[in-house]
Amino acid sequence: MSQQPVVAVLGLGAMGHAFAANLLKKGFSVHGWNRTRARGEDLLDAGLHLSDSAAQAVKSADVVLVMLADGATTQQVLSDVQAELKSGATLCQMGTIGVEATDALIAQFAQARPDVVFIDAPVSGTKAPAENAQILVMASGDRARASAAEPVFAAISKGQQWLGAAGASTRMKLVVNSWLIGLMQSLAESERLAETFGFSSDDVWKVLEGGPLAAPYAKVKLDMIASGDFTPQMHLVLALKDARLALEAAGDAKLPALENISALWQQAVDAGYGEQDLAAISQYLKAQ
Ligand SMILES: NC(=O)c1ccc[n+]([C@@H]2O[C@H](COP(=O)([O-])OP(=O)(O)OC[C@H]3O[C@@H](n4cnc5c(N)ncnc54)[C@H](OP(=O)(O)O)[C@@H]3O)[C@@H](O)[C@H]2O)c1
Repeated sequence: MSQQPVVAVLGLGAMGHAFAANLLKKGFSVHGWNRTRARGEDLLDAGLHLSDSAAQAVKSADVVLVMLADGATTQQVLSDVQAELKSGATLCQMGTIGVEATDALIAQFAQARPDVVFIDAPVSGTKAPAENAQILVMASGDRARASAAEPVFAAISKGQQWLGAAGASTRMKLVVNSWLIGLMQSLAESERLAETFGFSSDDVWKVLEGGPLAAPYAKVKLDMIASGDFTPQMHLVLALKDARLALEAAGDAKLPALENISALWQQAVDAGYGEQDLAAISQYLKAQ
């Protein structure tokens, strides 16, 4: 495609809003849809075409990015737009929806819309990296037919990693989030221990800094814990969803720590922490 593709973004939450904003900044024509329309209205001045329905948003799009909360929502919205997609469009499912929903969508589109290229394209990175186009896109599917998606991924990310047949990326995303979830829980517990011994989270970071354990992610989360500001970069309830998706897809692999974390995080969600950043698990531990 010699010209920039027309893009539709379905879901203007923390991540989808950042995708749309970056695409607009880079001169793409962007159609957006969100269940709660108000979440996209701040992008109208930047040129967003904000639609009242997902079906309307996708009609003229060469590339459709889908960034919705979970598998059930994504399946519902994609069934609604299936017949409306432009012939030959590239459909990129970017939410973390798990193996079962992804495989079902791949089969559904192969059967109902073989002209549409379905790319399984979840991302690594949270809200702030998404706003700065610093996420990684893990893409899988027919890359040769998906050339229209590549400049779109380039505009919203620091890079794209292609992993093979559609469905592979969703599996890799669960691997990455299993590591992230374990890291967050371990960090929260280590910070609790440090506090018990009279150390601040800054003391902990100063010891880690410069060494192999100084993950930048840990620094961001330690700062959140120190400030007590848990404005969500990644909602605890969505991280719990991801733990569950990994456990459901794990087959024979034993993941006992992830099982325990999932049970604990469910208790935290039940106690009202779900809409905060996942680092709020430290507050939940403190309240026990
Ligand atoms: N935040 C992260 O760090 C991160 C990183 C990588 C991947 N992800 C994944 O990306 C996806 C989106 O995450 P996010 O952080 O952008 O979440 P978010 O800010 O909570 O946004 C969720 C989006 O889904 C929509 N939605 C929820 N339920 C719906 C329904 N029943 N019908 C229609 N739309 C519905 C929301 O619409 P409303 O505005 O109307 O509620 C919103 O557009 C999730 O799968 C998440 O796991 C998140």
